[in-house]
Amino acid sequence: MSQYKLIVSNWKMNLNFVEAKKLLQKIIQIKSEKSKVKHIVCPQFLLIPFVSNLIKNDKIEIGAQDCHFKKKGAFTGDNSIELIKKSSCKYVIVGHSERREYHKETNEIIRQKVDIIISERIKPILCIGESLNHRKARKYKQVLKEQLKKCIPEKLSEIIIAYEPIWSIGTGMTPRIEEILEVQYFIKKFLIEFKKIPKIKFLYGGSVNSNNFNQIINNSDIDGALIGGASLKIKEMKKILTFC
Ligand code: PGA
Repeated sequence: MSQYKLIVSNWKMNLNFVEAKKLLQKIIQIKSEKSKVKHIVCPQFLLIPFVSNLIKNDKIEIGAQDCHFKKKGAFTGDNSIELIKKSSCKYVIVGHSERREYHKETNEIIRQKVDIIISERIKPILCIGESLNHRKARKYKQVLKEQLKKCIPEKLSEIIIAYEPIWSIGTGMTPRIEEILEVQYFIKKFLIEFKKIPKIKFLYGGSVNSNNFNQIINNSDIDGALIGGASLKIKEMKKILTFC
């Protein structure tokens, strides 16, 4: 079991400068007695330098929510891994279902992003997950396997996977703990056997809040959580960060 729980706050396209500062100042004050938690905050791009400055004396780390798969070029509106790295980001969320849906990102594009992130020695947090139809038709393992197969290169020394069933994101619905553990086992087995990756961190994401955190994350060997909605609320984060 992990020495610590990894909590990734995915702020998505939320919080302005004032709101981000207010939330972070309160989060910085939270000190878990046991401090068995590593907290990574992923703000939208324009907030990254501001947030990075606010947390510079704290152990909170910072990540980006996406990056482009090319080093540079004519890609209007995109963000390069070079500047993400220069802005102190140690992690990049990649393959989130909202990027897959709204920006039509395919497994092949995501793989190129994973490659460029790794080449800069930043850690990708790769999101994978099935739709409700795939879950109902019991095709979820097939979908997850395809995503793992196509998005990850072989022989990495480690990888962080966030399992986020699409039907649980922002809906208040979560799989049963047995279902998450089944997926965890399946993913780890696949990555060890077929991708020869020895170190895998498995996060769960999708409607995580202070009520279900204990049951899903804290009392299991799941390595942590990717949290959207609840990560914007100080009351929720206070409970979650001090549970660990
Ligand atoms: P949610 O989002 O916690 O609001 O469901 C999670 C995510 O999209 O990463």
